[in-house]
Amino acid sequence: MPDHDAVEVIAAKRDRHELSDSQIDWVVDAYTRGAVADEQMSSLAMAILLNGMSRREIARWTAAMIASGERMDFSSLSRPTADKHSTGGVGDKITLPLAPLVAACGVAVPQLSGRGLGHTGGTLDKLEAIPGWRAALSNDEMMAQLESVGAVVCAAGDGLAPADKKLYALRDVTGTVEAIPLIASSIMSKKIAEGTGSLVLDVKVGTGAFMKDVDSARELAETMVALGKDAGVHTVALLTDMATPLGRTAGNAIEVAESVEVLAGGGPADVVELTLALAREMLAGAGRDDVDPADRLADGSAMDAWKAMIRAQDGDPDAPLPEARESHVVTAPASGVLARLDAMAVGLAAWRLGAGRARKEDPVQAGAGVVWHARPGDAVTEGQPLFTLLTDDAHRFERALASLEGGYDIAPADAPYLPTPLVIDRVS
Ligand code: URA
Repeated sequence: MPDHDAVEVIAAKRDRHELSDSQIDWVVDAYTRGAVADEQMSSLAMAILLNGMSRREIARWTAAMIASGERMDFSSLSRPTADKHSTGGVGDKITLPLAPLVAACGVAVPQLSGRGLGHTGGTLDKLEAIPGWRAALSNDEMMAQLESVGAVVCAAGDGLAPADKKLYALRDVTGTVEAIPLIASSIMSKKIAEGTGSLVLDVKVGTGAFMKDVDSARELAETMVALGKDAGVHTVALLTDMATPLGRTAGNAIEVAESVEVLAGGGPADVVELTLALAREMLAGAGRDDVDPADRLADGSAMDAWKAMIRAQDGDPDAPLPEARESHVVTAPASGVLARLDAMAVGLAAWRLGAGRARKEDPVQAGAGVVWHARPGDAVTEGQPLFTLLTDDAHRFERALASLEGGYDIAPADAPYLPTPLVIDRVS
């Protein structure tokens, strides 16, 4: 590999030049090996955030991150594979009902997930609320479970895109998370290395998401879809609302309970709608659009797949879920209609109650979180419960309550209410 110099690469991006393929290959590899220092990579990440990257540069950067580690291969499985990735939201428990549902439709779901950081929850943290469940699987265990159950949600091993692991941790502490080229390459390097045959991206838009407006969400979606297609992965993206949190719960055990309600044929309408929309896209991408996932929810086969998936990872799907020791109810200050419920306010409250972590080594509380008893558009009566806050430490209530302040509006009962669509757009 030709030798470059970190300062030369940083200066090129600082001066708005396109980086060459060999500069990109070198800097990603050298950073992973430790030959480029953290302060040099953070300077380059900031230059990328400020000056952007061309499609060619993003594709090459993604390929270099994939090449930093191993690639999985599911081509020997007897069924096609499909995966879903969400860019992260509040109350976003969709993977939990979705993975077994798609498996019940005959498509294998190999989902390598992460833990939550900041106000968005992590799928592994939610599943770890189930007694006995373990996130770490060997590649052989993952293959065997995909063949027998059809769905695996587990921790990504250290071998997958190690360059991203190092760079993501650096971006997190240098104010460089919000760069579209870096987000797109980070997500897609992991998903392409994971080896799924088709991929559906749930790109969140709104206060509770990375992307606050539709235009930047669309740009991120188009960038990721192009990266997936170039790598031979059938990729589509849905842009979905994250101004309002999903469902009625944000936390770990309480989101598992809500997901089980969906698998039992009930659950909040928005969670069911998004689960089915994403399942249909995954099935179509895997060539199985002859199956209607709504039938598999109704006939109990998605629930059977969930129980098998949890048991295969040593969890007990029938065990009681952990409950928080303390609770606090917030009542409606007026009667009328709930006109707005802000996803970021709810996410921050759940996080401050102990459902999320501030540093990646922090533990999370399984029982902590927020339950909201009304959704935008619902009539509310003064004094009725609006939120239930849950935590093991009562001293956390004060800061959680502060984050809910200004996070919702109650309008007069006769004020016009315009519902916003959950699925905003589709990019393919
Ligand atoms: N999720 C990722 O995996 N990477 C990012 O950069 C942002 C969200």
